[in-house]
Amino acid sequence: MKAIAVLADGNEPVVIEKPRPEPAAGEALVRTLRVGVDGTDHEVIAGGHGDTPADDDHIVLGHEAVGVVEDPNDTPFEAGDVVVPTVRRPPNGANEYFARGEPDMAPDGEYHERGIVGAHGFMAEYFTSPAEFLVEIPPSLAEWGFLVEPASITEKAVENAFASRSAFHWEPESALVLGNGALGLLTLAMLDPTFERTYCLGRRERPDPTVDVIESLGATYVNSNETGVPSVPDAHEPMDLVFEATGHAPHAFESIEALAPNGVSALLGVSGDRTLELDAGRLHRELVLHNKALVGNVNSRYEHFEAAADSLAGLSRAFLSDLVTGVHALDAFEAAFVDDDTTIKTAVEFDTYEKR
Ligand code: NAP
Ligand code: BGC
Ligand code: ZN
Repeated sequence: MKAIAVLADGNEPVVIEKPRPEPAAGEALVRTLRVGVDGTDHEVIAGGHGDTPADDDHIVLGHEAVGVVEDPNDTPFEAGDVVVPTVRRPPNGANEYFARGEPDMAPDGEYHERGIVGAHGFMAEYFTSPAEFLVEIPPSLAEWGFLVEPASITEKAVENAFASRSAFHWEPESALVLGNGALGLLTLAMLDPTFERTYCLGRRERPDPTVDVIESLGATYVNSNETGVPSVPDAHEPMDLVFEATGHAPHAFESIEALAPNGVSALLGVSGDRTLELDAGRLHRELVLHNKALVGNVNSRYEHFEAAADSLAGLSRAFLSDLVTGVHALDAFEAAFVDDDTTIKTAVEFDTYEKR
């Protein structure tokens, strides 16, 4: 079968031939439909994040997949079920985090991430997975199922942010998403029903397709070139929730000042090392005297995938069509990895649901 991988000494995705995997006991064989591409994949390709599996000279890419069960292999699934795989796997047999159903809380060394860290991903015509890591979704979502994984990241981060404010009466009204990439825009749409006023920050000049998406959601675009990043709180109302999805390290700290009293900033971006000059005293004081919180978040677990599928089902098809700017066949896979100002979310299509 064909798979899309990056070689250990390479810096671009290539198609390779691999044997079709055989499901072991407890695993199902899945026929891949679509696999999304995100900022993390670009980091893995560039060598800035993740690791190839031990004893292999390549890593199969892709952690945002949707597929159809081809061979249930005595698992509770039936052939034809539409499933989305979770990302983390235990590296050396189960550990306490996986036993608790909280693989997303495992520290380094206690997990592999398929397509990212130490394990092959899902960008192949078939993949196998233990049944416990496959989340069934309705067939009506098959086309958009590759968005369940990124949406699950948002579910976790928003749950954690609200949990950090659960000890007192908190009625958030305003939310600011930092980043107009795919994760930022998907999050903006998901936050819309909960917040009265939503904002999204980017650094693009109009006309730009992401600004059109932001405005079509009824949100306000904040151009960081115009406001100057430190003045975000001056240019707009203080925010009850900030959701950082840029990977731009200064924003993590600037978000403290963008928050209203009692607000919380959920940090998602994965940035490289970066030295900053900042007024630590002021930020420390802001956090303490105004009961603010910063919450870091990585990955997600089974329940977040289930919640994400529900959220996705509630998003308008018009929004999803605007968000997904390209679904590319395997023989034109390179187009899915183009990251320019006209692409928002892309995916590689291995097969279609309707086919069989
Ligand atoms: P992406 O497509 O690269 O989006 C990042 C967006 O942030 C881009 O639109 C970029 O704008 C914007 N941006 C970057 N620096 C900025 C700045 N200084 N000012 C304003 N806007 C800026 O990535 P993604 O897939 O949406 O993911 C977003 C971030 O979340 C990435 O860092 C990714 O690694 C991370 N992530 C984390 C998790 C987790 O589990 N924690 C999960 C998924 C993703 P331009 O396009 O104009 O450059
Ligand atoms: C993935 C997460 C993963 C994180 C860090 C994200 O892009 O969606 O599942 O935990 O990268 O590797
Ligand atoms: Zn991702």
